[in-house]
Amino acid sequence: MRSLRQRPSMWGNIKEWDARARTSSAPFRLMDGAWLVHDREQIHDVLTHTERYVEQSAFLRTQTLFPLPLDARKEILGFLIPRMAELDLSWDNVKSTTLPARSGIRRSHRWGVRLIRDLSRPVLVDADYGTTYSLMNYYIERKSIRDDNWGAYNRLDGARRSELHQSLGKALRVESRTRGSARNDLATFLGTQFSLDLPDGELGELFSKLTQSVVGFTGSLIEYATLLGSRNPDIAHRYANGEGQNDVHETLRLHPISWRLARVAAYEHVLGEVVIREGDSVVLSTATLHRSDRHWRNPLVYDPARWSEDGSTRSGSYLPFGKGRGMCPGRSAALVTANYALQQIFTRYDARVWTGPLARPYVRSLLTVPTSHFYFRPKSRVSMPLAKQ
Ligand code: HEM
Repeated sequence: MRSLRQRPSMWGNIKEWDARARTSSAPFRLMDGAWLVHDREQIHDVLTHTERYVEQSAFLRTQTLFPLPLDARKEILGFLIPRMAELDLSWDNVKSTTLPARSGIRRSHRWGVRLIRDLSRPVLVDADYGTTYSLMNYYIERKSIRDDNWGAYNRLDGARRSELHQSLGKALRVESRTRGSARNDLATFLGTQFSLDLPDGELGELFSKLTQSVVGFTGSLIEYATLLGSRNPDIAHRYANGEGQNDVHETLRLHPISWRLARVAAYEHVLGEVVIREGDSVVLSTATLHRSDRHWRNPLVYDPARWSEDGSTRSGSYLPFGKGRGMCPGRSAALVTANYALQQIFTRYDARVWTGPLARPYVRSLLTVPTSHFYFRPKSRVSMPLAKQ
């Protein structure tokens, strides 16, 4: 079916940018007119000279508020980030259909997001929130998984997205008011405490975007880390022992899920050797920076040990969570959740991956695993329980 076909991967574009970046540090024009910036200092300039670029937010926004007012952004993060940090991660929340109880195959671009959804459910919305929970799940399956992770041709169009946001906002408002008093999740917060008065559609939209921020990236990260661990017993062993922190960083360096950041110039200025005009789009290729031999020794080699070395030169060359205003506020929670999920996976399963050219990521909205199949075989003995790291 056409709707299940993937759009062509943009991995070739990244390789092309990597090659151009080796010959010059100047930004260059892409086919659509945007400037591609790959040089470390210029990327930092864009991310720190925020007045030069139009203020924006990846997730703290709605159709009419782009971004939300600063106080509202602070209010949401003041609720969400501590809640993520306190989250008592528990494998008991993982649905039996997400990873198999017995041996089974799971297709790429799906199970990672579902797993993080299961683990984060207490922060997002409880399953007994009936309609809100079902609609959130529909959003995750249709938008986060099929459109963004899988890269489906037939994306949810604007009209159907608005309809979904409208239903979600309405359900969230009603259910949080009638059943939410004892809850401490994002749905209840948005429906009962959030001070900004939003129409139902925008409330649903905001909840969807925040859900996407929680599940989308971390879900892709654990699929990538599992793929690498499944092909190297040393990596699998470190994850099972709760010693995979360097491996997670090395996975994010070579395969940054958020492979480019985008900004729009607020006024004319010079960047590198080029004049950026007001309204120009600027694309910052963190994927290229992470693979640059100007900043990394043997950049294409997977070497988690590099993260135990002195990081004074490395820090500015590693931007999987962005930098400056708009930098990912969920980064610590994401790392804790990913490490927990990976420890559980490699303790509970022998994972194998097959089909496709496994060295080539699938790149669209996100940089994700090559399209593949994961085979999970439960280990006969699991030493439990494993604590949150
Ligand atoms: C591996 C996991 C993750 C990655 C790679 C990631 C990456 C990013 C990046 C690169 C940005 C900045 C975008 C920009 O500057 O244009 C960002 C922003 C954001 N992320 Fe994450 N993220 C992850 C997990 C999470 C989690 C678990 C949360 C949940 C709390 C979260 C919430 C957000 C929010 C709310 C923003 C917008 C911040 C703002 O506009 O002020 N992220 N993320």
